[in-house]
Amino acid sequence: MKYLQSIKGTLLQMSINQNAASQADRRKHTRLLHPDDSGVAAAADLLRQGGLVAFPTETVYGLGADARNDLAVAGIFAAKGRPQFNPLIVHVSSAEAAARIAAFGAVAERLASAFWPGPMTLVLPVRPDAGLSALISAGLPSIAIRVPNHALAQRLLAAFGGPVAAPSANPSGRISPTLAQHVMDGLAGRIDAVLDGGACGVGVESTIVGLLPDPVLLRAGGLPVEAIETCLGHRLAVAATTDRPNAPGQLASHYAPEAALRLNATERRAGELLLGFGAVACDLNLSPSGDLTEAAANLFRHLHDLDGRTAGAIAVSPIPGHGLGRAINDRLSRAAAPRS
Ligand code: TXA
Ligand code: MG
Repeated sequence: MKYLQSIKGTLLQMSINQNAASQADRRKHTRLLHPDDSGVAAAADLLRQGGLVAFPTETVYGLGADARNDLAVAGIFAAKGRPQFNPLIVHVSSAEAAARIAAFGAVAERLASAFWPGPMTLVLPVRPDAGLSALISAGLPSIAIRVPNHALAQRLLAAFGGPVAAPSANPSGRISPTLAQHVMDGLAGRIDAVLDGGACGVGVESTIVGLLPDPVLLRAGGLPVEAIETCLGHRLAVAATTDRPNAPGQLASHYAPEAALRLNATERRAGELLLGFGAVACDLNLSPSGDLTEAAANLFRHLHDLDGRTAGAIAVSPIPGHGLGRAINDRLSRAAAPRS
């Protein structure tokens, strides 16, 4: 019986893959939707029909699909060229909605009430009655879930009325988008629409904390680790980098621009553009005053911008490792890692 079920599962997966692949082959007209009532309503309708809609969050743009619809979720993997073993984050409107999907212990409740809505994702045991597509968790018994702190994302979640699976809205392995135009540059023709909410305020992806059940940092991100440690009352263990993650941008090479990257650069060498931090002469500056929050908000936009200007290399000034500097350095070191 178990054997038959597993064959059935494999066949379903094969037909989903095939369907998603043929969907991705067909070029779609990608609509740019305005951040008004009719744009939000059109985006919610597309999600209900199983479509793919990119939308802004406070961290980066997400590529959304109905989290309960296998074919729609498979479409996310196809549009991004994302490996099937890399699971997705589910976005919901409130901690109450999250509690219908995941099992919250006392620590999860404490973190959720301190930091949601906000740039923090929790990885928790999935509830058996959650009703989500099995593709989201890539076979894991856990689910990554977050409540975004962005008015337009919240309006979309309210209009749609269900959980939305959404990875960052970039082709797999490339830099995350912080403007609607970045999404268009990477995914136009492969998705149904982009809801344009302007620039994302935080600029790096959410901080991911695993609670299965011990707290583990799976990805540094838009919520400083220090804030989480203060809330927990202890230091947070850090998960190791791997080439087959059950977790995030844990792949060593990730978030990469086309150009090669040289980190901790104190000068600009021949043929390089310099991405500066603090009071330095450079081509673009993450934050002339040395403010890490401003630098995080500018990081991906400046990388996209410099990447479009050069076929050569991008050098980057040293960035301090505290607060949002931890997420910035994490993304930069993955972007600079040898590509596989
Ligand atoms: O800020 C963000 O988190 C953005 C916005 C759109 O919400 N989303 C985002 O998604 O960065 P994505 O897919 O690019 O990164 C989410 C990471 C994945 O790399 C995945 O490995 C990890 O979350 N993840 C998802 N489910 C997981 C699980 N059950 N266990 C461990 N890690 C998981
Ligand atoms: Mg991503």
